[in-house]
Amino acid sequence: MRIIRSIPEMQKISGALKRKGVTIGFVPTMGALHEGHLSLIRQSRKENDITIVSIFVNPIQFGPQEDLKNYPRYFKKDVFLCQKEKVDFIFYPQANRMYPENFKTSVEVKELGKVLCGVSRPNHFCGVTTVVTKLFNIVQPAAAYFGQKDAQQATIIRRMVDDLNMPLKIKVMATVRDPDGLALSSRNIYLNRQERQDSLVLSKALGLAREMIRHGQRNAFSIIARMKALISSKRSAKIDYIAIVDSQTLKPVNTVKGNCLITLAVRFGKTRLIDNLKTGKKIGDRSHLFSRVRSSAK
Ligand code: PAJ
Repeated sequence: MRIIRSIPEMQKISGALKRKGVTIGFVPTMGALHEGHLSLIRQSRKENDITIVSIFVNPIQFGPQEDLKNYPRYFKKDVFLCQKEKVDFIFYPQANRMYPENFKTSVEVKELGKVLCGVSRPNHFCGVTTVVTKLFNIVQPAAAYFGQKDAQQATIIRRMVDDLNMPLKIKVMATVRDPDGLALSSRNIYLNRQERQDSLVLSKALGLAREMIRHGQRNAFSIIARMKALISSKRSAKIDYIAIVDSQTLKPVNTVKGNCLITLAVRFGKTRLIDNLKTGKKIGDRSHLFSRVRSSAK
């Protein structure tokens, strides 16, 4: 495994591999790797000749009041994990090289980045799409791997790739969870004991929604109301949003049918957690309503 810090060097290596017909699978990350990231790496390894993982805490996707300075950075451990997973290259650029003083361009997917998480994080998705575009141009992958955990991010990136005719496939992998149901996130380490305990209410609320739908409930407002009541019962929980939206347009739906996303963001103390559940296509066939919650093999 090689660690590449230089942007032109990474671009040169990727270009040469691509010309040789080698397929590159790409997993963009901000480091502090956990089983969620590793599931993307494993899928990329299965489907491509080589796998490149980027580790870059992207400053332009953090708001002024957010945790850029304190975002967990465990580069040595990340290198160890990548080595163990047989990653071929880690791309580890510096912020002042990614964004030199005269940097002026941004890539924005209109509307989709302004709803849900975009309401409390107004510039976040523009920062994500800008860095992901840069990374795609540098790494030149045949396929890039993202997690369903960040469902809005995945929807926006799919839209961008489609709209801008970017020549790669986007693969979105299931959310990996702790055995007790909490979706893995680099930010979970910020939770104190009480908050960690209370945070279990998120997967429980999504489970409740799943059960309600299984029993025939289709009214989005009724489902959201029950989820709200359950989450509000936890002292440390402050709801940012709970929504049921169309998974492509991200517009709220009144009735749950087809491909919907039940999605939420909740603060526990200073830590904002997100989670979601996708409803399946075959609304009549209840056994296929949802992709199953997977537990991590930690
Ligand atoms: P980061 O939060 O490090 O996540 C990197 C990738 O891992 C994302 O695609 C995310 O959805 C996925 N991921 C995180 N937790 C997961 C889980 N529990 N199960 C499955 N996948 C999970 O997302 C980012 O970084 C950045 O916004 C980035 C795309 C790298 C751009 O800076």
